[in-house]
Amino acid sequence: MKKILESLGLSEVNNGATSGSSRGWIKTTGSELVCHSPIDGSVLATVRQATAEEYEIVAARCWEAFLKWRTMPAPKRGLLVREIGEALREKKKELAALVTLEAGKIVSEGAGEVQEMIDMADFAVGLSRQLYGLTMASERPNHRMFEQWLPLGPVGVISSFNFPVSVWSWNALLAAVCGDSVLWKPSSRTPLTAIAVQNIIAPIVDKYDMDGLFSMVIGKRGDVGNRLGADKRFPLISATGSTKMGQEVGCVVANRFGRSILELGGNNAITVSETADVQLALRAVLFGAFGTAGQRCTTTRRLLLPKKLKETFASSLVAACRQIKVGDPRLEGTLMGPMIDEGAVQDMMDSIEELKKQGGRVLYGGERVTVKGLEGGHYVTPCIAEGKNEFPVVQKETFAPLLYIIEYDSIEEAIALQNGVPQGLSSAVFTTDLREMELFLSPAGSDCGIANVNIGTSGAEIGGAFGGDKETGGGRESGSDAWKYYMRRQTCTVNGGRDLPLAQGVNFKIDL
Ligand code: UN1
Repeated sequence: MKKILESLGLSEVNNGATSGSSRGWIKTTGSELVCHSPIDGSVLATVRQATAEEYEIVAARCWEAFLKWRTMPAPKRGLLVREIGEALREKKKELAALVTLEAGKIVSEGAGEVQEMIDMADFAVGLSRQLYGLTMASERPNHRMFEQWLPLGPVGVISSFNFPVSVWSWNALLAAVCGDSVLWKPSSRTPLTAIAVQNIIAPIVDKYDMDGLFSMVIGKRGDVGNRLGADKRFPLISATGSTKMGQEVGCVVANRFGRSILELGGNNAITVSETADVQLALRAVLFGAFGTAGQRCTTTRRLLLPKKLKETFASSLVAACRQIKVGDPRLEGTLMGPMIDEGAVQDMMDSIEELKKQGGRVLYGGERVTVKGLEGGHYVTPCIAEGKNEFPVVQKETFAPLLYIIEYDSIEEAIALQNGVPQGLSSAVFTTDLREMELFLSPAGSDCGIANVNIGTSGAEIGGAFGGDKETGGGRESGSDAWKYYMRRQTCTVNGGRDLPLAQGVNFKIDL
């Protein structure tokens, strides 16, 4: 453990604010944040949080960096991001191990998280030569009309514990090629991985003399989060977390006419049709519901089954679930590591109680587990339950490995059930029937930001735009044209002629 921390430049006590270069660390003076590993509850390190004054120092440096960075040609900005990708490749093993220690992800998922950052760097480098604007046909003679995309300003990134570093990269690496600087407020539950990322990139920031470009502040919501949301220097705030958090941040940002990208709760369903390849569907449900211990915003929370298939599918699922090894995420063979903390375990237990009160029942699991030698960890067995879509507990997101099986009669009913929740992040159908697939993908189909066929709800690639609608918040990050959120669109018209014709044929004649 100590070796991993040291290899990433972490000490026993760490400062909680930096403007990104190796000279950028600020001696923070706020209260101490003790970081425990969810694996066994042991103390990993502590962080001295930033105060409001220390936030101010970093925010000012981040603003200064923007003024400089925005004039650098985009392909040159891409070169810096390319070096970040290389540095992450070099440190992949160590950073992945820290993700496992701090967030409790199993080894392959820790590695996957860092791989997602590397993929994002590659994507952003390519993009740095493709920030295209359109040329439009002007209705006036000798006029040229086009749009250009300009850097927007410093971007605030608020990230959550479950993807402690990759969500930063979705935002920060796009922002960087777009000409924006970044101020990151990581989750207080996973500050060490954030500090490690800052340490990995600092030599590159030094090389480009760009202190302030990638800044970070760890602190309390009151001292840092709220301040960032209300700070007019940050025209864009990208926030990942609960719907409640997003509602608060979104309102504060909108109130000052800022822009926000919100990536909030999901309540994702897999629909299995009677025509489905059952083995494929089973695998997808298992990873979707119980991978990452159910702590992804894309986790499968509802399984919609037709009457005919319900009994057999549910019993195969229970049988497969018994094989899921719960325990130390560092060990090969473990498929489900710990929950992030005791609060998360308690939330799961409360939801199971609510479900029973509302008329549902547990088919398998949902108990606390004590793992030998890891008594301070937060382990549970995966839970398969039966419920109804309209139960209040089924309507909300419980961030845990808790799957509700719901019965349906027709594919139309399944789509209505899937859409019949406040959230709209991810969705999937398993079918071999072309018409069912097309209906699912049609305007009368899934209302989610992600709609998959014969693939589960989680594990999206970075190349597509990621996010969802309704209470998920409407933001889109990472691939496709999500970069446009990070830039300012400007429509330009140039008159190359000797006359001044007005649009729409308006006449305003004056003899000069
Ligand atoms: C999240 O849980 O906040 O699609 C993001 C996925 C991952 C990202 C999840 N690529 O499951």
